[in-house]
Amino acid sequence: MTKRIGYRNWRWLALWWRHFILLWSTIDGQTRYTIPEELKQGSVVGNLAKDLGLGLSEIFDRKLRVASEAGKQYFNVDAGKGELVVNERIDRDTLCRQSASCVLPLQVVIENPLQLHRIEVEIRDINDNSPNFLTKDRVLKMAELTAVGARFPLESAEDPDVGSNSLKSYILSKDECFSVKVKDIEGGRKIPELVLEKPLDREKKAVHELLLTALDGGTPARSGTSQITVTVLDNNDNNPVFQKAVYKVRVNENSEKGTSLIKLEATDSDEGVNGEIEYSFGEHTLESVLSVFDIDAVTGEMFLRGELDYEVAASYRIDITAVDKGSPEMEGHCRVQVEVIDVNDNAPEIVLTSKPSPVREDAPSGTVVALISGRDLDSGNNGKVTLQLTNGHPFSLKPSFSNNYALVTSGVLDRESSSEYNIEITATDAAFPPLTTKKTIPVSVIDVNDNPPKFSQSSYNVYLKENGLPGSMLSSVSASDLDFGDNAKISYSILDFKVQDVSVSSYVYINSDNGSIYSMHSYDYEKLKGFQILVQAKDHGSPSLSSNATVHVFILDQNDNAPAVIYPSAALGSLPHQKMPRSTKAGYLVTKVTAVDADSGHNAWISYRLAEATDTSLFSVNLYTGEVRTKRAVSEQDDSSQRLLIEIQDDGEPVQSSTVTLAILVEDGLHEPILDLRQKVPEPSKKSGRITLYLILSLASVSVLSMVTFIILAVKCVRNSRSSGSCCMRRDDFDGDMMSQSQSFRSCLSPMSEFSDFTFVNLAAVALRNIFC
Ligand SMILES: *[C@@H]1O[C@H](CO)[C@@H](O)[C@H](O)[C@H]1NC(C)=O
Ligand SMILES: *[C@@H]1O[C@H](CO)[C@@H](O)[C@H](O)[C@H]1NC(C)=O
Repeated sequence: MTKRIGYRNWRWLALWWRHFILLWSTIDGQTRYTIPEELKQGSVVGNLAKDLGLGLSEIFDRKLRVASEAGKQYFNVDAGKGELVVNERIDRDTLCRQSASCVLPLQVVIENPLQLHRIEVEIRDINDNSPNFLTKDRVLKMAELTAVGARFPLESAEDPDVGSNSLKSYILSKDECFSVKVKDIEGGRKIPELVLEKPLDREKKAVHELLLTALDGGTPARSGTSQITVTVLDNNDNNPVFQKAVYKVRVNENSEKGTSLIKLEATDSDEGVNGEIEYSFGEHTLESVLSVFDIDAVTGEMFLRGELDYEVAASYRIDITAVDKGSPEMEGHCRVQVEVIDVNDNAPEIVLTSKPSPVREDAPSGTVVALISGRDLDSGNNGKVTLQLTNGHPFSLKPSFSNNYALVTSGVLDRESSSEYNIEITATDAAFPPLTTKKTIPVSVIDVNDNPPKFSQSSYNVYLKENGLPGSMLSSVSASDLDFGDNAKISYSILDFKVQDVSVSSYVYINSDNGSIYSMHSYDYEKLKGFQILVQAKDHGSPSLSSNATVHVFILDQNDNAPAVIYPSAALGSLPHQKMPRSTKAGYLVTKVTAVDADSGHNAWISYRLAEATDTSLFSVNLYTGEVRTKRAVSEQDDSSQRLLIEIQDDGEPVQSSTVTLAILVEDGLHEPILDLRQKVPEPSKKSGRITLYLILSLASVSVLSMVTFIILAVKCVRNSRSSGSCCMRRDDFDGDMMSQSQSFRSCLSPMSEFSDFTFVNLAAVALRNIFC
């Protein structure tokens, strides 16, 4: 307590001083007693009667009394002894506070006569109070980083005693960090101050328990204590620390998302939030890391959030920061090295370095078709690639530098047998188990004009009826070419050739696109028995290739000629006349009708028939020879003029016929019929004689020629029969109904050479018939 003086005390003091001044004149002398405080009631302060010079009787008589204006009657007068005694306990410390002197003024009143005496009782202090702290327990919070020398005022202890009994000093229990200093302030008060002597370290000692003792100067000294608890407030003065600066982790690249990699742990000696750690990636961590890794801010566990790919990144260096939550924040750092272990997760690839180029079918072995390389994103053995070809192709792989190959031809190519190859390439890596990839490379083969057009037949036989319409289609040849495109495009043409001194191109015409052959004429078998055409098929390649085929055109006879009567020849308008004697017997040869037919075969097979006669019983005509003979002996009754109509027919279809009318004169007395015949028909016999001569000569020569030809052909036929030569035509080739012996014969000859010979043969046959008849 300070020396605050209560209102009551002031009043008391003022009163005291007023009386003192008032009485000063009436009172002489002063009596002063000194007593210690706290005397027991009844304790004698002094002999008042004696000190005032009064007799004992007067005390009673004059009513000696002590008056105190202070309200409290601390003293009494013992009327018997005249002593001033203590009436009440006197506490100086209450009465006078911290005043150095404590004097109680007393009025001594004596009546009869009234006398006032002033006496003083000085109350001396005794050490009856201990220093006292109002607060027995005090808690101080002190920041850890408080500067050395800092002072913290403490509560001063109170000791109501004064003088040497009052508070004298403070002492502090032993603590290396603190001491106490006393600060004297105005009024002699002593304020203790706690002084920080050494830096605080919460991590070493978080709480300092101090005992402050206050001592007074009495003897013996009295003391009071106060417990002071200093709590050191944590300062965030420790950074989180990782156990290692670098952590190493190895992880397979195919590890799943969420795989835990490592649990990092940092420690922080600070307490509370200052020691609470949050883990995070370093400030400048790349997005590529953030997308793959994650760290639990609280537990420090690192795990995968994305996918690892050795081929993208084989390792990561990740800076991790541990931050506490103090203020300011303190950080700790470490680095995590993640090594990604390659897994054979990439199949090898086949890369076409150059597009496969089409290759000519005549390309020599070793021609490069394409450049190929093998690639594998894995590393080590997982990334070693070998390429292989499936067999069965005329191709092979030629290794060049690392993993590069050339696809080359290794055999003969033939577009006609295989125009495109699908080459399957297999890439295998060297891992265990290996991964493989297949790729098919199409290689097309470019056509080369290496195939000539080929006719469906090497020669064609065409049978063409004579008298056909010009422009009608005669035949069609066709050729094919195994090549492709223009190399297989065929044009047909007719190679120039002479038939009977006329170019064959005037006979026929060929459609160059499809090989249809058209006749440009109507053919007359009697003039042209046949001809051959050489057709060429030529492709459009460069250079072009061609082949030839022969078309044999056989003209078929049509029955377009009626038999022509050669004998007897009738002069215009006159009938041929024959004479015969009336004496003729039966079987007499009257005459012989001779006719020829320009056609051949059946069409030229002539028969004679008596169509009409004057007397049909008299004459007969031989069907084959045309001989007119008498059937019986001529009688006298028979008419001398006989008329015969002989019809001559060929065997064609339709039948062609002609007639001849014979007038026969039956003469009496005519005896030499043969001579007569000559004589009587001189003109025809002369004519026929000349013809006969020519015919015989011709026949002889033709026979010899024919024989020779025939023998040569026969020999040839025999020799070539095995190699199916073109010498003899097969019967089955021909299904016409006009086949005759002569045709059969003719077929053994070439059509061109046959024509003239055959006409002669025909003529010769007619002549022979004439001659021998
Ligand atoms: C060939 O072409 C002509 C004219 O286009 C046609 O009349 C003929 O029938 C064709 N020939 C063949 C064998 O197709
Ligand atoms: C086709 O015939 C012509 C003319 O006779 C000849 O020049 C050519 O060489 C022949 N071609 C072939 C492929 O025989």
